[in-house]
Amino acid sequence: MLFSQVMALYLVTGAAGFIGSSLVRALLATGEQVRGLDNFATGKPENLAGVESQIDFRESDILDLDALHSAMESVDYVLHQAALGSVPRSIDDPVRSNRVNVEGTLQVLVAARDAKVKRLVYASSSSVYGDTPTLPKREDMPPNPISPYSVSKLAAELYAGTFYRVYGLPTVCLRYFNIFGPRQLWDSQYSAVLARFITRMLRGESPTIFGDGEQSRDFTYVGSAVSANLLAATAPVGEVAGRVFNIASGTRISLNHAVTAMKELTGYDGPIQYGPDRAGDVKHALADITLAKHHLRYAPTVSFEEGLKRTVAWYVEHAQAQTVKA
Ligand code: UD1
Repeated sequence: MLFSQVMALYLVTGAAGFIGSSLVRALLATGEQVRGLDNFATGKPENLAGVESQIDFRESDILDLDALHSAMESVDYVLHQAALGSVPRSIDDPVRSNRVNVEGTLQVLVAARDAKVKRLVYASSSSVYGDTPTLPKREDMPPNPISPYSVSKLAAELYAGTFYRVYGLPTVCLRYFNIFGPRQLWDSQYSAVLARFITRMLRGESPTIFGDGEQSRDFTYVGSAVSANLLAATAPVGEVAGRVFNIASGTRISLNHAVTAMKELTGYDGPIQYGPDRAGDVKHALADITLAKHHLRYAPTVSFEEGLKRTVAWYVEHAQAQTVKA
């Protein structure tokens, strides 16, 4: 059958996570075959609601090499999203962040190498640039990690590049800049700022800004990260293998500005608290996305305002946002 000949098998690690589950949906929508891996450390079964029967889902850990070897069978492309996110989490427990993000990625690379997959796309982070003053960040700038999380993301990036050079495994690293959107983890102390603030505001609880709120981020809608992965998996190997690309919107928004927009969309009119600066925090982040535009034909999908609107609408619709959790 022609259809089965053109379909590829994608392995998504972290498939029940925020970005992973968005990738699973996008792949299914384009008719691809999907295998998903997640240990539910931060991913949630409900993120795969409605699509679980359409994928080969396996509850397992990227620290389990046997499970990885079995998950790689017949796989064409690996989209490696599994990780322990959050700078503060890594400051609280650097060993665990390192184990999952570095050792876990190394094992995914080993299994992908052994299975001779066509491509492995690795979810890296803008945090590897650290707090250097030059904006926008370009991929040829020297990394300068200032938190255990960013060290772990950079170390795994170096492993990915090395696996291309040493073993010929075609790897592509995507440096995500503050991805946000529906399904982002919202009920954890380590949740990203927009998911945390939107859900607090919807519950009438006041959010706390760490610092003066003038820190800025290149907030990027999840649809952009999804399209970047699909492009990176299939772009000509000679253009992308062994390389690193910024994935962002290419615009910078201060936290104070984002808070104003979130207040408007959620109808929250209570107070905003200000607290001390957060350890390991970067002041400003903004990406130059020229390289991704050129080699991946990448373009950001939706504006910050539109993305925020969709995100708030999603949290409003999902009763979970109304449930108070300590
Ligand atoms: C960092 C990375 C990002 C990565 C993410 C993974 C940078 C620039 N970005 O995001 O690429 O994907 O880690 O976890 O390093 N904040 C508050 N109040 C809160 C929570 C957060 O004011 O309750 C502030 C933080 O201090 C920070 C900003 O919001 O200034 C964003 O924080 P967060 O959403 O945790 O992401 P980053 O640490 O920027």
